[in-house]
Amino acid sequence: MAFLDWSDSLSVHYRLIDTDHKKLIDLINSLHDLGEAGAAHSSIESTVKQLTDFLKTHFMHEETLMRKTAYPQIIPHKIEHDRLMKQLEDFGTRFSSEQVGLSQDTVMFLRTWLCDHILEVDMPLGQWLTKLEQPTDKAPNP
Ligand SMILES: [Fe+2]
Ligand SMILES: [Fe+2]
Repeated sequence: MAFLDWSDSLSVHYRLIDTDHKKLIDLINSLHDLGEAGAAHSSIESTVKQLTDFLKTHFMHEETLMRKTAYPQIIPHKIEHDRLMKQLEDFGTRFSSEQVGLSQDTVMFLRTWLCDHILEVDMPLGQWLTKLEQPTDKAPNP
């Protein structure tokens, strides 16, 4: 069993978003495993960078979908994205300059943040996108 396992309860029923979330889970699991194994600073640094870069891509995917569909909750949703991004970038800077190490608290924080965000914030977005597609378009989403 991984540190964080994907399950159907995490699905927002929108393929692009679910695919991104699975990749984020993989990256958080990698970070956890590297931390547990006492891996080299450079390996952890590279995974933190991959996670930061992929989160940016993922947030851009969701924000583009929200803008294109005039999603009413775009502002509070984006605030949550921006807040996490700032925290992760700050951590990356401090980790790179060796002011802080990777603690299990940090990895736990990322796991909790992602699960809570998916369940409470991304889930209503998934419902919104699915509902918009239903009346006229039965084709699978991109
Ligand atoms: Fe989100
Ligand atoms: Fe998301």
